[in-house]
Amino acid sequence: MQVFNTVASLQEALAQQQGHSVGLVPTMGALHEGHLSLIMRAIEDNPVVVVSIFVNPIQFNNKEDLAKYPRTLETDLQVIGRATAASSCQIFVFAPSVEEMYPRPVDEVYHFGPVEEVMEGPRRPGHFSGVAVVVRRLFDIVKPQRAYFGEKDFQQIAIIRSLLQQIQYPIELVACPIVRADDGLALSSRNVRLSPAARAIAPTIYATLSQAVEMSRYESVEEVIEWTLSTLSSFHEVNPQPDGLRFEPEYFEIVDDATLQPILSWDEAEGIVGCIAVWLDGVRLIDMVRFK
Ligand code: PAF
Repeated sequence: MQVFNTVASLQEALAQQQGHSVGLVPTMGALHEGHLSLIMRAIEDNPVVVVSIFVNPIQFNNKEDLAKYPRTLETDLQVIGRATAASSCQIFVFAPSVEEMYPRPVDEVYHFGPVEEVMEGPRRPGHFSGVAVVVRRLFDIVKPQRAYFGEKDFQQIAIIRSLLQQIQYPIELVACPIVRADDGLALSSRNVRLSPAARAIAPTIYATLSQAVEMSRYESVEEVIEWTLSTLSSFHEVNPQPDGLRFEPEYFEIVDDATLQPILSWDEAEGIVGCIAVWLDGVRLIDMVRFK
């Protein structure tokens, strides 16, 4: 594993690897098993893998979230080193500063039409444009053949697919399944901010989504949405919690997995997923589940 902090040094190393396919795993660090699953998949597919670690300020529409985002570079490097020690793949970690990534003020803005008008889009103005700017910059720097993203951020994958169509880069987008803790909680860098009491009840989100999938066999889309939201919102009434701890769902949308547009009946699309954002203990958790 080699670590690079500048674009020039990374590109110099990549130039030595010409003729080998390069897989890019973009991350914001605070690595967990979910990230490692992307890295391991990239290693299977490519002899050269670049893992970027960069907390991208322009994709945070909330200053507090940016300030609180965990930054654990030393541990991240150890985690990557240990996980990839037995691999013959060239592992390049790219950990630039903000100035290195953005030497000039950013003036690009991306628009994605209907796929950004649902779920995260209206609630996090500017977020997906900020993601697109950094991902395109990484594509330009690394020039990968493949790029790896986790399905937990389901809408982000649709955004990157749309970005690739807009910029016409011949990069294969590889979407990798969510990795969950043994108790079902979707792994996320934000989970470390949950108090022990909040962490203990957080698996309720996935348990509720799984029940929603069961319900979809005999209830309408509207009923499943209502039930899911009210089950989470009223959880603390049925199961009293310390310190006013409660789930506050922001949205639960059931959508066509290709267009991300909400569906009204179960036969309206071939692939259907449910995506949720829930506040718990001051932490915004997202998750998703497949209905078909
Ligand atoms: O999913 C993430 O961690 C980020 O949005 C990404 C893709 C690394 C861009 O900053």
